[in-house]
Amino acid sequence: MTGGMHYHIRVSSTAKHDPILLVHGGAWAIPRDAEAAHEAGVQNALDAGYAILSRGGSALDAVEAAVTILEDDPTFDAGRGSFLTSDGRVQLDALLMDGGRMKAGGVACVERLRNPIQAARLVLEKSPHVYIVGAGAEQFALAHGMSLIDNAELVLDRERERLAAAQARQAAGFADDTFSGHKDDKSPETAFAHDASSHSHDTVGAVALDARGNLAAATSTGGTLNKTPGRVGDSSLIGCGCYADNLAAAVSLTGWGEPIMKLVLGKWATDRVAAGTTPELVAREAIAYLYNRLGGHGGIILLGPDGRFGLAHNTPAMAWGIATVSGSRTGLTV
Ligand code: GLY
Repeated sequence: MTGGMHYHIRVSSTAKHDPILLVHGGAWAIPRDAEAAHEAGVQNALDAGYAILSRGGSALDAVEAAVTILEDDPTFDAGRGSFLTSDGRVQLDALLMDGGRMKAGGVACVERLRNPIQAARLVLEKSPHVYIVGAGAEQFALAHGMSLIDNAELVLDRERERLAAAQARQAAGFADDTFSGHKDDKSPETAFAHDASSHSHDTVGAVALDARGNLAAATSTGGTLNKTPGRVGDSSLIGCGCYADNLAAAVSLTGWGEPIMKLVLGKWATDRVAAGTTPELVAREAIAYLYNRLGGHGGIILLGPDGRFGLAHNTPAMAWGIATVSGSRTGLTV
């Protein structure tokens, strides 16, 4: 043998599995007048994704379809209707991962794509890379058949008003006192999160197990309100807001991105499932770790290769849904 060992392992089983799809539409204090829209959006995403799984389609196709629906729904902080940057633009991040092929694709800071999760899929399938960001990602998507739109098509008046209110609070020194993190921490990051905690973390995501036993995960976001242009959060960073490996689990997170990134919380959670802890327990442990270690808040959906799953959040609510062979259900708390 002249070189090192050359081999590839594709991890999937030939056994027939009952498909499962879980989705989330953000973890925060969802106002009463927005509850129905959140549950309806999550149900629409379940319907689109599970239709693919039930006809034998792949987990990767299912999570892409589910997240596309959530990006198109202006209820959520993903796609059209996302939070605005401090200069009033929508900048989107998304990642998806195929746990059977161990392939991932991500885009960040894209401004001219209606569905960044579809651009992420193109990165996964058509490029030798895991990430392409900014104008390069937009040009890559255009070259592979996606349309570029004007950023203004993604911006809602609702979000212009929300940005103006956030900037007024910022000018007043973040007077809002709802943040439940470490109050002795006066860093710019914590001051920002302190303000943001009373607002939406509507990042969306999905995890799926298909009939062939393959896992996949997808997460998409407009990021945080009033973020600095160019800021990238946890959602599109591999192992932070999204991860999938057939030998471990599939995960999607939502919430204040910076603490999730520092803990690499998605990989933290899937490693624990691989080591033998149930997804139900790991989901609760992950959110406890997020809060106890860094004062973070958010939510998680986690699905193991045997179909066991866990959901948890430490926010007042998290929009979530599950579809199995037995039917589907949605909820606003776990
Ligand atoms: N979790 C979304 C973000 O912080 O960007």
